[in-house]
Amino acid sequence: MTYISREQPLAGKSLVITAGPTRESLDPVRFISNHSSGKMGFAIAQQALALGAKVTLVAGPVNLPTPVGASRINVESADQMLEAVMSQVANSDIFIATAAVADYRASDIADNKIKKNADTLTLTFVKNPDILKTVAGLPNPPFCVGFAAESQNVEAYAQKKLADKKLDMIAANDITRAGLGFNSDANALHVFWKDGSVELPPQPKTELALALLNLINERYQLQHS
Ligand code: CTP
Ligand code: CA
Repeated sequence: MTYISREQPLAGKSLVITAGPTRESLDPVRFISNHSSGKMGFAIAQQALALGAKVTLVAGPVNLPTPVGASRINVESADQMLEAVMSQVANSDIFIATAAVADYRASDIADNKIKKNADTLTLTFVKNPDILKTVAGLPNPPFCVGFAAESQNVEAYAQKKLADKKLDMIAANDITRAGLGFNSDANALHVFWKDGSVELPPQPKTELALALLNLINERYQLQHS
């Protein structure tokens, strides 16, 4: 019998990954959300498993199968995603936030279905907790990787998020590039860390996920050597 040995550079490492959109209720039948497909986060989970990692996937509402071997926690709102992440992140080595978390939620969720009585409707929103910033601000945080989907000033905004959220790495993508990013099967990333950056060219999200994980592993090893 022939055994094919694979390199498993993430063996023994524990990863927590957020993926997909969050859904913020307005009333018992309505919510606000976004078009995130969850594909990038699920691709990273799948490749991390192949590289030997233990993977916990905290997923918003997406229509994707669980990568074999991943432990999956389904959530809807940003508050639920934060709670699930905080319950898992304590002993993790690497946290990768790919989720498109809704920045705001309705200040009040109506108990009953909102009726269309008035000609205009005004809703008040309050800011959601920043899950990634919360994790990166823990006393003994895992290696924290953020994503930044931007429509302008990609590099400047990504660098600002890297610094403001005290991240180890941020992967930025330009959502105006045709055929890439949200809901698509392909993407390109410009990845930044404190003293360096690299561009990962357009490619299927599965391949991009592997390239990104290799980069994360490289930086992680350097930080822990
Ligand atoms: N993020 C998070 N919790 C939030 C908002 C964002 O964990 N409430 C994470 C995302 O998963 C992503 C990173 O923070 O990894 C950057 O998200 P992004 O929406 O680009 O940045 P924001 O800080 O929300 O700022 P803005 O939307 O104004 O650009
Ligand atoms: Ca945001």
